Amino acid sequence: MQWNRKDLLELYDLTPEEIELILDTAAEFKKVSQRRVKKVPALRGKTVVNFFVEPSTRTRVSFELAEQRLSADIVNVQASASSLLKGESLLDTIKNIESLQVDLVVMRHSAPGAQAFIARHLNCGVINAGDGAHGHPTQALLDIFTIREKLGRIKDLKVTIVGDILHSRVARSNMWGLLKLGAHVTFAGPSTLVPREFEEVGVRVCHNLDEAVADADVVNMLRIQHERQTLGFFPSTGEYSRFYGLKEETLKKMKKDVLVMHPGPINRDVELASSVADGEHSVILEQVTNGLAVRMAVLYLVAGCVKK
Ligand code: CP
Repeated sequence: MQWNRKDLLELYDLTPEEIELILDTAAEFKKVSQRRVKKVPALRGKTVVNFFVEPSTRTRVSFELAEQRLSADIVNVQASASSLLKGESLLDTIKNIESLQVDLVVMRHSAPGAQAFIARHLNCGVINAGDGAHGHPTQALLDIFTIREKLGRIKDLKVTIVGDILHSRVARSNMWGLLKLGAHVTFAGPSTLVPREFEEVGVRVCHNLDEAVADADVVNMLRIQHERQTLGFFPSTGEYSRFYGLKEETLKKMKKDVLVMHPGPINRDVELASSVADGEHSVILEQVTNGLAVRMAVLYLVAGCVKK
């Protein structure tokens, strides 16, 4: 299996074999971070620009660390201090950056499809670090990597994703990746945030938390986006937490070896009780650790296909 894409835009585009190749490559790169000298020359001479137009902690830091560990030259562009604020278009901004002999652009943007749009106009590679509510492919890859590492496979596992599915790029990317690798996916949450349309692509939709998690091998809890609360998707944070927050009492009714995941940032004691977030079933910080290996793998594979 050979990688032949200059961009990573969304898991929907990939074959199961391409996803497996990223996961297998990440497993090799994870070993690099466990060495005394945590660096390889794989991207020496390559230049990567990190362009984050939306806030980020985990994704931005782990991409930058991944680039450092691969020996790339790195430039971080602060969108808030760029000429976007003077009215320059996104495409002009990125084409000017590309003119500086850049090999890869890692971008987060609030507009769904922004990375796919610029990728069509650039010779350099483009990696999607989150585009609006559309996709967050490297988050899904690190989630799937963590599940595979912990449970040994993806095929036939039952994975329940709980929360604001409607606005979640993490849910969408996980859905495509997990379905392609043969998992059974359930989306759970209030009917205002979990539309039935997802059933058309093979997802089970459930509005009762106990039912949705009863036989799950993995439960991935999503952040409740406080900024949406005024739009009336649910009556109050307290009410949401009562019906859809994962607490110790629910955990006791679940499989004894269930994995509890969360992409971060967590609203503690809203979608996830603090004791569960920090408890024995939680793999939340391991997800973050694996994000570094997964992003090293994506950067390495994509960089290998950029023609200069
Ligand atoms: N999970 C995630 O994308 O976190 P950040 O927004 O902090 O990057």
